[in-house]
Amino acid sequence: DAAASPREVAGQPLVIAHRGNSSLAPENTLPALDSAARSGADLLEIDVDYTRDGEIVVLHDDSVDRTTDGTGNVRELTSSDVRALDAGGWFSPLYAGTPIPTLDDVLDFVTASDATLLLEFKSSWSERRIGEALALIESHGAEDRVIAQSFDTTTLASLRDAAPGLARMVLVDEIDDPVASAEEFDAIGVNPRGEDVLGRREIVDEIHDAGLLTYVWTVDDAQDWAGLADAGVDGIVTNRPDRLAGWLASD
Ligand code: G3P
Ligand code: CA
Repeated sequence: DAAASPREVAGQPLVIAHRGNSSLAPENTLPALDSAARSGADLLEIDVDYTRDGEIVVLHDDSVDRTTDGTGNVRELTSSDVRALDAGGWFSPLYAGTPIPTLDDVLDFVTASDATLLLEFKSSWSERRIGEALALIESHGAEDRVIAQSFDTTTLASLRDAAPGLARMVLVDEIDDPVASAEEFDAIGVNPRGEDVLGRREIVDEIHDAGLLTYVWTVDDAQDWAGLADAGVDGIVTNRPDRLAGWLASD
């Protein structure tokens, strides 16, 4: 549970694995999540979208083209189309045949391994779709193991209205008024780019003064980790959770 993390107690940022341990295993797959959990990540970040027939699957892009051996937009493919894809061979022959996991698969992993998800909803989700995601999360008893996040304002409103009990955070492409953004969606925090926070460090105090958290993305450089830890961010999303965990442990 993220709240009990020794890093949090020590005032260190949480280690958040971006798409799993995506430097060492294919992004958004179970091997990447397993590697991240073993490397000491506090939170596992994944992206979800849904198929034409409503299966919630773990994928970053709108289309399967970049990260699988198939083509097409996920919302136009069926769940059986998606299940047949190889989401590992593009990364390394060692991972050939690794499937795109469903959210159901990931929730099995999360409950079995005592992990917590930072679950990014990609594109626009209606209240009905969010209700389906919530029902799946509840069927695993995993409501306390999931923090939802999105850039999309329709999705954030759906999360607020259809899943009020699920913690949520607002992703922002640019820092405008982070506190107002979080308050609009009754969120626990607001998540900007790490580089934007490095250019405007006082924003972290503003966010904390409003009683909010901030998890910044996506930062792989130790000098930047130092600046962000110094600014007091609550979490750092990284492609190198193994290295960030090691760096914090040696601090
Ligand atoms: O956690 C935030 C980060 O994942 C947002 O960017 O494009 O990698 O989903 P993206
Ligand atoms: Ca993401």
